[in-house]
Amino acid sequence: MNPAVGDDPHGAKNQFPAGAGFPSVHPLSACKGRQESTHRIMPLTHTRDLFSKALKGKYALGAFNVNNMELLQAIIEACEEEKAPVMLQISKGARDYAHPVYLKGLIDSAVKLSTIPIAVHLDHGDSFELCKQCIDEGFTSVMIDASHDPFEKNVEICDKVVEYAHKHNCVVEGELGMLVGAQHDDGEEGGSYSKGGAYTHPEEAVQFVKQSGVDSLAVAIGNSHGAYKFKGEQHLDLERLKAIKKALLDAGMGDYPLVLHGASSVPKELAQKINKYGGDLGEETAGVPEADIEVARRVGCTKVNIDTDLRLAMTAAIREVLVSKPKEFDPRKYLGPARKAVKELVRHKLRNVLCCAGHAFD
Ligand code: G3H
Ligand code: 13P
Ligand code: ZN
Repeated sequence: MNPAVGDDPHGAKNQFPAGAGFPSVHPLSACKGRQESTHRIMPLTHTRDLFSKALKGKYALGAFNVNNMELLQAIIEACEEEKAPVMLQISKGARDYAHPVYLKGLIDSAVKLSTIPIAVHLDHGDSFELCKQCIDEGFTSVMIDASHDPFEKNVEICDKVVEYAHKHNCVVEGELGMLVGAQHDDGEEGGSYSKGGAYTHPEEAVQFVKQSGVDSLAVAIGNSHGAYKFKGEQHLDLERLKAIKKALLDAGMGDYPLVLHGASSVPKELAQKINKYGGDLGEETAGVPEADIEVARRVGCTKVNIDTDLRLAMTAAIREVLVSKPKEFDPRKYLGPARKAVKELVRHKLRNVLCCAGHAFD
């Protein structure tokens, strides 16, 4: 019998069958060929190639979380229409929810039916074993998130993942600092950098990248996950971001790719719509202003992670249908509008925030 959805991803039942990983990765140039055929299974594009093009083109890659078919279709259709490259990210939670083999099947279909460059990334890998599984399955990049560990331990686990990943044609994102949000960083007191604070310290970032060998770095500059990021008129610490980028450049790391997690802007109108149709998100929702993301992109955040906004768009659309049409019980009648809402949101991000629209075939 086939493994059940939701089995423990570390258990034997949830392992990929041998040889069942993603098709091998070809260089970005291979994407051009995909325009002619929509029915052959074509390979993923390597994260390394997407990063180098994004750095050159001064745009950011949208890294959107995938948990089910409608989210994936919305993201891919938006990127296809906007001609944007994309990073699909899969969290441990997504693997637990949908099963790695279903996710692989969905992504294979997306690759087959689209022409844009697609990379697949593990979001917030929490162990060497999980990273190894994803590397073995053909993910083009993995994140090992040991940011809650002390510096030395964080370096040690990243180094171990990097060693395995680089031997298997995969690149690694690490994280330094903690995503506590703007209101909880002790290091912000007095406005000076503090190694004791939760925000990423520029000189520590250099040491971290040198010692761990990670290929990209997620930074903590006031960003946090979810729908309650800031209180009042708070912003990202964009000066700190500039200092981190400069420290890496001065240390000879070149135009080093930085990653911005927690980059949802939590649009008020979506929270209000959810509340209007029976939700209870309260009045305190707050995200990163899109203008801050725009600056972060210009300063050098090459990968921008967005999940919460997609969840909000999907939930608002579903709630609206279920409340306004209480007799409706065909899932397609609420998942369809939800997919459309997510697609429109992603199109807006690609065009107006990340500026990666039109760069798929550079
Ligand atoms: O940063 C976390 C992402 O939003 C993924 O969330 O772990 O609930 O899948 P998840
Ligand atoms: P948001 O919660 O702001 O969407 O952040 C998502 C994220 O960082 C995924 O890794
Ligand atoms: Zn994140």
